[in-house]
Formats: sequence, C-alpha cells, structure tokens
Amino acid sequence: MITPQHRIHSGFGARSTATEVLEGIDLAGRLAIVTGGYSGLGLETTRALAAAGATVVVPSRRRAHAQEVLSGLDRVEVDELDLGDLDSVHAFADRFLATGRAVDILINNAAIMACPETRVGPGWEAQFATNHLGHFALANRLWPALAAARDGARVVALSSRGHKRSGIRWDDLQFEHGYDKWAAYGQAKTANSLFAVHLDALGQDAGVRAFAVHPGGIMTPLQRHIDRAEMVAAGWIDEEGNYSDRFKTVEQGAATSLWAATSPQLIGLGGVYCEDCDIAEPTVPGTPEAELSGVDAHAVDPDEAARLWTVSTQLTAVDAFAAA
Ligand SMILES: NC(=O)c1ccc[n+]([C@@H]2O[C@H](COP(=O)([O-])OP(=O)(O)OC[C@H]3O[C@@H](n4cnc5c(N)ncnc54)[C@H](OP(=O)(O)O)[C@@H]3O)[C@@H](O)[C@H]2O)c1
Repeated sequence: MITPQHRIHSGFGARSTATEVLEGIDLAGRLAIVTGGYSGLGLETTRALAAAGATVVVPSRRRAHAQEVLSGLDRVEVDELDLGDLDSVHAFADRFLATGRAVDILINNAAIMACPETRVGPGWEAQFATNHLGHFALANRLWPALAAARDGARVVALSSRGHKRSGIRWDDLQFEHGYDKWAAYGQAKTANSLFAVHLDALGQDAGVRAFAVHPGGIMTPLQRHIDRAEMVAAGWIDEEGNYSDRFKTVEQGAATSLWAATSPQLIGLGGVYCEDCDIAEPTVPGTPEAELSGVDAHAVDPDEAARLWTVSTQLTAVDAFAAA
C-alpha cells in the first residue's frame, strides 16, 4: 500500500514540542538507536525518548564527550560510530547485533552540513558518505534487529528542506567536478528521503516502516561551517546576531522526528516525507511556497529511490535484501 504524500491533519504543527507529541506515549521496554544523539536535535530526541521510558543507544564519534553530555539520563547507552567509515559502521552493528536485542526505533539523525570539500573512505564526498551511505549501511546491517521488533519497527531518516537544492547527481555522485557545499548537502538530504521511501517499500511486509523528516530550521552546531556573513545574507541572523524568528527551538525541532517515530496516527503508513509534525504536501514547482515548505518530487520519487538503493548497495557492499 502506498501512503499518500498529503497532510493527515495531525493536530500538531510547527511549534509543537517533543513533550507534546510524546504525551501519553509509553515507550517502556522499547529500544531506540539515535545517531548523533548527543548534540542539537539528536540530544533532545534522546532525552525525550528516554523520558518516555525507552532504552536509547547513542552511537557517537566522540564517545567520551557523548558520555559526559548524556550522563545522568536513565536507560541511555553510549557506543562508538563514525558514519564516514564503513569499518566503524560494521563494528558497531556487530556489537549491537551480538546483544540479541531488537530495535523498535532507528533515528538516522547524524549529519554534517555544507562543509568544505572533504573526502572519506575510497574518496567519497563526505556529506553523501556520512549523511547517506553510512546510514544506509547501518540500517541494512541492523535489519535483523529491526525485523525482530515485537510490534514493528520505525526508521526515521532526517532529511531537510535542503533537499530542494539538489536531486541525485547520477553523472557525478561524488562531486568529482565542481564541488558546491550546498548542492552536496542537498544531494545528501535528497538521498536521506529517497532511502526512507525505498526502505519502506522493502520493509513493510516485515512490519518495518520508514519516514523522512524535515525538522525545521534550528540553530545547532550543524551550522559550524557557515560564517556570520553567510548567515546574515541568508536572513538567519541580523547584523547584531539576533536569530530570525522563523527558527524553531530545539524542543520544537525534535518534535517531528519523535512524532514520526512513535505516533499512533502513523500506524499502517510510511514512505513519506514529514514536516511540522504532519505528512508534508508535495510542492507545486515554481510557486513561492515551494521554496519554503513541502517536498519536491525528486525526493520522494519511487524510481529514483530504487535506483539510489541499488547504487548504494554497490558502493557499500551491504544489502540486507539481496536474494539469498
Ligand atoms: N538544525 C537544522 O536547522 C536542521 C535543518 C534541517 C535538517 N536538519 C537535520 O537534522 C539532523 C540533526 O542536525 P542537528 O541540527 O541536530 O546537528 P548537530 O547538532 O550538528 O548534530 C549532528 C550530529 O551528527 C554527528 N555526526 C556528524 N558526523 C558524524 C559521523 N561521521 N559519524 C557519526 N556521527 C556524526 C555529530 O557528531 P559530533 O558532535 O561529534 O560532531 C552530531 O552529534 C541532521 O540530519 C540535519 O541534516 C537540521
């Protein structure tokens, strides 16, 4: 069954908070994995899931730092993971699978944004590799644990409004020509959304549903590569450094991921792009609204999603759904 890419009028909105979307939801006995769950939106997501009773595993590339940030939270476990290094992804997956536990919620939250041109692994562009390929390999390796979830698992892939900056560049996936930091972020965030579309298609028979999420604009360490002049030019801050009032708080920014991961309103649905705690509307190209909200067709196209899945299996040599 294909879920329509249209609002369901959830009753929540852009200013809904993590606490509000989790009200009345009991996650006792559930296990969640939140990549990057020790900074920005991920930290708030970890806090909220743990407060609702879940055990939360936070794989991190700065273990000691993550342990310090998360100390004092009940049921939170820190492990190691560098998404830009496939060996590290395999090592984390091996350690987790060896525990024999199921994964009820996987939130592919970690990312880098608009960094200077950087190469990782076999020369891959770092944003595509970290934001997409690392999470692709992680979810595929964790597939047995996702499929083992008692009441079906949910996978949430953090995408972004940034998907509007680029579709998948099939002729130059790794930006070997003409690196552009925003186009590279756009391609990676389109890839995150397409990943959710195809994982949902593959996984729903096993009860695993996937959602892509744009959390809104939130000031976090994600903006570390953007200098002040660029933020002023983009209207994110004024000359005095005051934030635009269109930014959400971190509590509001984490709400859509948490809603997608837990809401009973989404039972039986999946494979769609969400924003402001609802399923997003598809954009009408050329309209002013299309620049601000909604999802562009290239980020939810099932054929593009299937093609990206195949290419990602070839690049990572990981494929949970390969014919035996
Ligand atoms: N903030 C926004 O306005 C906004 C808007 C749209 C979409 N998003 C999306 O929301 C998600 C969360 O962003 P955020 O704003 O919370 O950013 P953030 O505070 O910078 O958090 C990102 C996390 O990802 C981790 N990470 C980066 N590279 C990694 C790697 N190679 N391996 C493992 N972990 C890695 C970071 O680890 P370190 O702390 O060790 O660097 C950090 O914990 C991202 O997917 C982002 O694209 C954010």
